[in-house]
Amino acid sequence: MVRIAVLVSGSGTNLQAIIDAIVNDEIKNAEIRLVVSDRRDAYALDRALNNGIDTLFLSKKEYSSDVEFCQALEKKMEQFDIDLIVLAGFLSILSDDFVQRYEGRIMNIHPSLLPAFGGSGFWGLRVHKAALEAGVKVTGASVHFVTSDIDAGPIILQKAIEVPPGISEKELQKLVMNKCEWLILPRAIDLFCNNRIDLKDKLVTIK
Ligand code: GRF
Repeated sequence: MVRIAVLVSGSGTNLQAIIDAIVNDEIKNAEIRLVVSDRRDAYALDRALNNGIDTLFLSKKEYSSDVEFCQALEKKMEQFDIDLIVLAGFLSILSDDFVQRYEGRIMNIHPSLLPAFGGSGFWGLRVHKAALEAGVKVTGASVHFVTSDIDAGPIILQKAIEVPPGISEKELQKLVMNKCEWLILPRAIDLFCNNRIDLKDKLVTIK
């Protein structure tokens, strides 16, 4: 069993997709050991509790720097024997040390077809706003390994959809979640947990 920690900040619909995929056996060989939130009021924490999963709220305010925050996070990862860390709408930036320590074992879901509309400042609705402003006809989501460069790590899976004409940012966000994110994040986790991801020279191939 691959022991997973899911890191969240918000509503946790991606977390829910992972939980459901494990229950439905679409993700094999995995268990969520811990859900960590950097926000006390994240609904994702309720979802975890409702499913009998241990939760932890780590307040950034209690640490004097990102480095210290990540040291506390690392201790928890060790305590729970975590093999894979999944960022599912986690808004804090992880320290370089933390990222290096878990190289190839942290994945993130991003709501665009990277490398488009990624990097600092591209989160939440801003991503979809930028995509609509650029007039793209196709958008989607990407799951990638996390490196020190924001949203620029090796891409594991992507899924694209056509952008319906006249759609709002909010509607596009929902569509991308529904048709892309909730499918490819569980799929990428299943690939990882069953040794099907080959990471070489910063490129991923699926075995
Ligand atoms: C998703 O759009 C994800 O791509 C982004 O943050 C959002 C999290 O949503 N990184 P949720 O908390 O999983 O509902």
